[in-house]
Amino acid sequence: MSHVVDVRSFPIIDRYCYLNHAAISPWPGVVVDAVEGFVADNRENGPLNYARWLKIEGQARNRAGQLLGASPGDVSFLKNTSDGLNLIANGLDWQPGDEVVIPAGEFPSNRLPWLALAERGVETREISLDPKTPEASLVEALGPRTRLASVSSVGYSSGLRLDLEPLGRACRANGTLLCVDAIQHLGSLEMDVGRLPVDFVVAGCHKWLLCPEGLALFWSSPEARERIMRFPRGWRMYPDPFTFNREDATPPADGRRFEPGTLNMMGLHAFNAAAKLLLDQGMSRVESAILTRIDRLRQGLARIPGVHVADPPAGRNSGILCFRPAAEDPGGEQIGNLYGALGENRVITARRGRGIRLSPHFYTPVDQIDLALSVIEDQVVAV
Ligand SMILES: Cc1ncc(COP(=O)(O)O)c(C=O)c1O
Repeated sequence: MSHVVDVRSFPIIDRYCYLNHAAISPWPGVVVDAVEGFVADNRENGPLNYARWLKIEGQARNRAGQLLGASPGDVSFLKNTSDGLNLIANGLDWQPGDEVVIPAGEFPSNRLPWLALAERGVETREISLDPKTPEASLVEALGPRTRLASVSSVGYSSGLRLDLEPLGRACRANGTLLCVDAIQHLGSLEMDVGRLPVDFVVAGCHKWLLCPEGLALFWSSPEARERIMRFPRGWRMYPDPFTFNREDATPPADGRRFEPGTLNMMGLHAFNAAAKLLLDQGMSRVESAILTRIDRLRQGLARIPGVHVADPPAGRNSGILCFRPAAEDPGGEQIGNLYGALGENRVITARRGRGIRLSPHFYTPVDQIDLALSVIEDQVVAV
């Protein structure tokens, strides 16, 4: 097990200063190798090594459990985060008059499935969060009809990290299920769902988990899983999937209940390699490396006059940091120029709203962080 970052695993750093892991991550070398190995196996052997693929699937499920701090039996492999959130929205036994509580400004995947429940008489309440006490804002909004609260544990544009412990406790006390969109969390910050009062966690793998698109981890507690009344059925969900003439169609109790058909086997090969890389590093190391880089960015930006840094309160940092020009910029011209200058200097960021979002990963070289800061300084001073 190596705790030293092997930069050859991240060839992207030779070409770009890549600060956009909150969007889509480049694949590390080990992930490319795993996918290429799978491609070669298919080319040369077709599916003859299916038994080996199943072993990879099992290994990937174990590693998913490790990353989540959960039992692998509670993990389901789905297509994407939206898939998981819709599974919950479509599956719970809603009654007219029920309510869902979500933070205002959520990514559409954690908004649209709940809004669509209006046709079943369910009201979705979008709550503005006080960044200093965001959990309290949500807790105050819980009412007698709140069946579910659904939150991003890290906000996709604010980078605000929620404390799931007090929120989950309040939800439990209110008889409210807590669903967590962890796509901006898992793979960047530690997670220990076994210790948290949460019911569902969903996370696509193409951001911080360093995988190709098209695979997501879905975690459900055994009790919460039973609350999903409607879900797709199919051959692959059973421990003996090749029993095609099954008499007893009782769905399995574990997470495979939500895997009706053939899985994304190539994605699982990739995930298995990416998860090993992250687990070999250790998620506490990954988290502290990311937060160190975010601190360096924050401190560097704070020294540049003319820049305003969004400042989550202490302890709420994540892998996401946003900033914008301090001056009025109604037409977005300054931000456009700044974003353009970063791109010209091969610093890859994301434009989000009135600002720019920076999201380094644990391997991002610190001198590249300084390069990004100097490009920003030159551009802001030139204005
Ligand atoms: C908070 C959040 N949820 C969901 C998604 C995307 O979900 P999906 O995996 O369905 O594409 C994103 C980003 O693209 C996101 O930032």
